[in-house]
Amino acid sequence: MFACFVDHLSLWRIHLEIGYLYLSLLLFSSLFTHAVVLDSCSAATNCGPGLYCGNCPAMGKTQPICTRGQAIIPTSVINGLPFNKYTWLVTHNAFSIVDAPLLSGPQRLTYYNQEDTVTNQLMNGVRGLMLDMYDFLGDIWLCHSFRGQCFNFTAFQPAINTLREVGAFLTQNPTEIVTIIIEDYVHTPKGLTNLFTNAGLDKYWFPVSKMPKKGEDWPTVTEMVQDNNRLLVFTSVASKEAEEGIAYQWKYMLENEAGDPGVKAGSCPNRKESKPLNSKSASLFLMNYFPTYPVESDACKEHSTPLTQMVDTCYKAAGNVMPNFLAVNFYMRSDGGGVFDDMDRMNGQTLCGCSTITACQAGATFGSCKTVAVPNTSPVTNTAGSFTGSVQFARSTSTDLSPNIWPFYLFSVPLIGFLS
Ligand SMILES: *[C@@H]1O[C@H](CO)[C@@H](O)[C@H](O)[C@H]1NC(C)=O
Repeated sequence: MFACFVDHLSLWRIHLEIGYLYLSLLLFSSLFTHAVVLDSCSAATNCGPGLYCGNCPAMGKTQPICTRGQAIIPTSVINGLPFNKYTWLVTHNAFSIVDAPLLSGPQRLTYYNQEDTVTNQLMNGVRGLMLDMYDFLGDIWLCHSFRGQCFNFTAFQPAINTLREVGAFLTQNPTEIVTIIIEDYVHTPKGLTNLFTNAGLDKYWFPVSKMPKKGEDWPTVTEMVQDNNRLLVFTSVASKEAEEGIAYQWKYMLENEAGDPGVKAGSCPNRKESKPLNSKSASLFLMNYFPTYPVESDACKEHSTPLTQMVDTCYKAAGNVMPNFLAVNFYMRSDGGGVFDDMDRMNGQTLCGCSTITACQAGATFGSCKTVAVPNTSPVTNTAGSFTGSVQFARSTSTDLSPNIWPFYLFSVPLIGFLS
């Protein structure tokens, strides 16, 4: 009887202990482990730091999974090389943001290319911004417009607002370098000069006089940081180089075709304004990879195998030179690794001869690589350290064309060809 009681007691205690163990395991796992890339999720908070939660119906993948949301900053792994050895992530029409507030009237009729603020783009590792600037309402505005003119229904906001975001980021991140590529419709004399000065960006300005004119290497990123020359600005208007000291883009940069010709598999033709991609007379190379008409729900598909193959195509078209800038729409949309995995491969190959930058080892000889897990399935540990981004999608990943685009789409189709 007594022994039986003891038995019951100890059994009960064992149960209790197992219960405890189970509970603490549960607690531990919910507190300290997160889903990794490709794990299923219902919100970004289920996923580890730096990851989004999204699906890709365009590829038949309807269940949401954790996807990468941040780039590895290549200088955080291999530092000190000339600027033109690195590949940087660029947002095409960085300002043309879904749900951007309407500051110039009740309606905006245009296409959108991104989904988060420029500040957030920078925090997620974007290092190049394509901005379309226009004279508008006595000021300079960012507009997604046509025929070189901004209208109330194509306007986003005064450019100085976005430039101040860039300034805040450069101040808070003293070793980061940002490139701005302007599609320039500003005719006001010294308009851009005054704009950048008023935004407080002149102190970060990389002077044209230091830019290599004949395809030589750029200064190293270390020199650029030391000299505080951490903002590169390019304009599409040649005369502004002499007039305002703003670098004419295609004097320094090779570029493939933007829009549909740039996503056609198997070929990588140069943009008309650019020298041929295999020209060695310019040492920066910009690769555009986005369709003419941006569709949010298709971006995850575009950012899978087709992009990886096009990187290879453009690399070969440029005579085995890796693009320095990769410009995309909806940069965080993918079926797992997306543009971030491509960026890692590009930097890994150029900086250390490895299949991904995560296999590179600082100080090691070229081609001596660490063994790393398949990049797609490993959790992203953000090695850059100095920034964190918000990684929750603001809206459903399966959203198609924004509804307020339809009047424009239906009635202004002839104009679309002029949209840039
Ligand atoms: C365009 O937007 C500006 C700024 O909000 C406003 O002052 C102006 O009245 C608008 N013009 C038209 C025609 O709606």
